[in-house]
Amino acid sequence: VLPARAPSRKGSMIHMSKDLQEQVTLLEQQFSVSTEKLKEVTDHFVKELAKGLSKEGGSIPMIPTWVIGWPNGTEKGSFLALDMGGTNLRVCEVIVQGEGKFDIMQSKYRMPQALKTGTKEQLFDFIAESIKTFVDENHPDSKEMLDLGFTFSYPTEQHAIDHGKLLAWTKGFDIPGVEGENIVPFFNEALARKGCNNVRLTTIINDTTGTLIASRYAHPTSQIGVIFGTGCNAAYMEKFGNIPKLDHLDFDAEMPMAINCEWGAFDNEHLVLPRTKYDVEVDEESPRPGQQTFEKMVAGCYLGDIFRRVLVDLHKQGLIFVDQDITKIEDPLAMDASVLSAIEIDPYENLSDVQALFENNFNILTTEQERQLIRRAAELIGTRAARLSACGVSALVRKAEIASCTVGADGSVFNLYPHFQERLAGAIGEILGSEHGEKIKAIPAEDGSGVGAALIAALQAKGLGLTMA
Ligand code: GLC
Repeated sequence: VLPARAPSRKGSMIHMSKDLQEQVTLLEQQFSVSTEKLKEVTDHFVKELAKGLSKEGGSIPMIPTWVIGWPNGTEKGSFLALDMGGTNLRVCEVIVQGEGKFDIMQSKYRMPQALKTGTKEQLFDFIAESIKTFVDENHPDSKEMLDLGFTFSYPTEQHAIDHGKLLAWTKGFDIPGVEGENIVPFFNEALARKGCNNVRLTTIINDTTGTLIASRYAHPTSQIGVIFGTGCNAAYMEKFGNIPKLDHLDFDAEMPMAINCEWGAFDNEHLVLPRTKYDVEVDEESPRPGQQTFEKMVAGCYLGDIFRRVLVDLHKQGLIFVDQDITKIEDPLAMDASVLSAIEIDPYENLSDVQALFENNFNILTTEQERQLIRRAAELIGTRAARLSACGVSALVRKAEIASCTVGADGSVFNLYPHFQERLAGAIGEILGSEHGEKIKAIPAEDGSGVGAALIAALQAKGLGLTMA
């Protein structure tokens, strides 16, 4: 769990040795992103978003979701929602009451790390078991079929709202035999194995699509849904007429369709993003090298690892933690984004919280100078993540020609990472100009993966889900 936000620390940098000061300057050069670079990245991003919608395609998948149209507040009903993000698995029951109201009840399970690289049977059995436990507790003896919306937050190609072929695992998952396959039979088979016979999967959605719809339900000005969490991605509504790759289908050109961008894949060709040697390492040692280039620079799944690699590198050069055993931070999973958060919110001038964190968790004693460097490195990596994220939001705003809107946002980085929201807003202003930037407001969305899944299941029940067939 990430620590709560705290006011920024006041106080001056202590005097650093020349060597360390030089390292800080080097890190600043590598991790700072100028306004000019932000604009260059955004220009390229706009082009790639359009390319993803073209028949030829590009690196950003721009997946049609078959969610057509917005909720209008009249949706009603009770739905199960299953949320498989990157870190937790949640089973929810959402009662959509109409007029923008809903009730939600949920159970949350942390997904064991081993499950992410295990077998598909283990994964789907864990999912089915969680659903069964929830249903047995909350609907014992129910003979009625319960409709379930599955928020499966990985790039998933859809021919229909109740179909989903996994294109590639992201966020550190690596389970053989699922990529390239429709996940629905795996899900249904596991339910049958567990004897859970009264649950019917009616919709598969992405967390960003859920966030888009849930946010619109609460705020009629919402036009974009974004997740800044373990992964990073966005969804928005596009007119059929602007989706050349679907122009063989005979639909009204004005009809809106939610697009799950999967923008984590932006710049997989490595043309424009300012990657450092640490980003290259993170990518090369990930289960899917060459994929999710943008996501690997901005998302919670990777921020801790980038930071960890900086420290290990400086130690190897004999610059920090001299003569200490750094085995604990040599583990690629040693630090997650919550470590960076904790470092950035240490309110004490001598960074005594950082000192305790390194001593207690990693068995490393730090000098005050080292802690200043640690703090600056965390700040640079966190700031870069927010600023590059702003390129995605601004590109989508430009692609969809949005003059003003709210952006429904969710995820641990958006909600909990210190200063992320201000940094994001600031960079959007730099890219779009302050006047336009101020009209694009990222606000915390309603639980898109739960409420959004239920709303989409409700839309589907009203016939607002299409199929390609
Ligand atoms: C990854 C997934 C994407 C998801 C995002 C946020 O980018 O590929 O589907 O929306 O993480 O969870």
